[in-house]
Amino acid sequence: MKIAIILGTRPEIIKMSSIIRECERCNIDHYIIHTGQHYSFEMDSVFFDELNLPAARYNLDVGSDQKSSLRSDHLTFRSSGVSGTHGRQTATMLAGIERILLDDTPDVVLVQGDTNTVLAGALAASKLGIHVGHVEAGLRSFDRTMPEEMNRVIVDHISDHLFAPTETSRQYLLDEGIPDERIFVTGNTIVDAVHRNLEIAKGKVDVLERLDLFNGGYFLATAHRAENVDDPVRLGGILEGFRLVYEEFGMPVAFPAHPRTVKMISEFGFDVPSGTRLIEPLGYLEFLQLERGARCVLTDSGGLQEEACILGVRCVTLRDNTERPETVDVGVNVLVGCDGVKIVEGVRRMMECRDVCGDLYGDGTASERIINIIG
Ligand code: UD1
Ligand code: UDP
Repeated sequence: MKIAIILGTRPEIIKMSSIIRECERCNIDHYIIHTGQHYSFEMDSVFFDELNLPAARYNLDVGSDQKSSLRSDHLTFRSSGVSGTHGRQTATMLAGIERILLDDTPDVVLVQGDTNTVLAGALAASKLGIHVGHVEAGLRSFDRTMPEEMNRVIVDHISDHLFAPTETSRQYLLDEGIPDERIFVTGNTIVDAVHRNLEIAKGKVDVLERLDLFNGGYFLATAHRAENVDDPVRLGGILEGFRLVYEEFGMPVAFPAHPRTVKMISEFGFDVPSGTRLIEPLGYLEFLQLERGARCVLTDSGGLQEEACILGVRCVTLRDNTERPETVDVGVNVLVGCDGVKIVEGVRRMMECRDVCGDLYGDGTASERIINIIG
């Protein structure tokens, strides 16, 4: 059996890393197709280096929307081939992936998550009659204005194996008429990645010392969702929330910002509030340490909502909805949107929260299960 693993963005590299490890462990013939949707060192190569992953056999170098000429000084960029829209980005990936799959044909293609890379990979493979396995299937925000929601729905409906992280996701898929025999509840591969890399991080990095922070004495924030950071009202509200959080609790907000967010802060002419430490995106080892030591996480990231729960850290989600409702249901995550006052209220509430998350996302063997199922 030959598996092609298609990935293109930071979270896909992290969440696919344990699947790649498992292929290596089981001596399964596999190779990586990187679309190049993410390409800055801090969003891409750092994870291959730290997670000790083999280089992609193919890199399409598709890049992302480069219509703005504003670039942050602290990030390194390499050239990006595509400018413009989702359609153009997805289409370029689709054509490139199809060419590779025709030439170096696998038995199974694996994609993970909900990015444009995932949509292009699943579509190219399914049209060629190649089995598609969707890792992290069945997530739904029920908000079709999110590009990710569109990608999730389409990819789930054209996949042959749907690896749902939770029973809730399985139920969503069944409700949409997807046959039960295609769905497997495996847990989320992020648990595998967190456990493994937190251990590795111990001996290798000390981000708290580097950033002059102490355990439990700071907040960790990230934001990158298009619907938040491309909207001046919402991005302004988020920054106001950080200001209010610092004012009320007197603890700094560490803010490793996605390049998209840095770009939009600059385009809108916003100042970063005092108490907020805008830093470059971190590698996974440092980031996990920073996340574990945080008093609370403020984020619009999907992966962070899961990781915070796994690490036992409270999460305030800067969105109006979530495709990770389990974390809200057990009480360790709260949805506050992007209004400054609501953000600080959410932090107050989470600071008092005593609920525990348990193993909502599985026991750290998702990758093993997935490879067993397709193997
Ligand atoms: C993408 C995914 C999103 C995912 C996120 C993970 C889609 C539609 N969106 O969003 O679901 O949560 O990745 O981080 O697939 N940029 C760089 N360097 C990079 C990558 C991006 O500077 O390596 C900047 C560029 O200005 C680019 C912008 O970020 O225009 C957005 O990048 P893009 O890949 O289009 O979307 P993300 O916001 O990263
Ligand atoms: N992450 C990281 N460095 C950072 C910010 C995030 O390593 O500076 C990791 C984080 O631990 C998580 C993943 O990136 O595993 C989340 O990616 P992102 O928020 O970009 O995407 P999403 O999960 O929302 O799709």
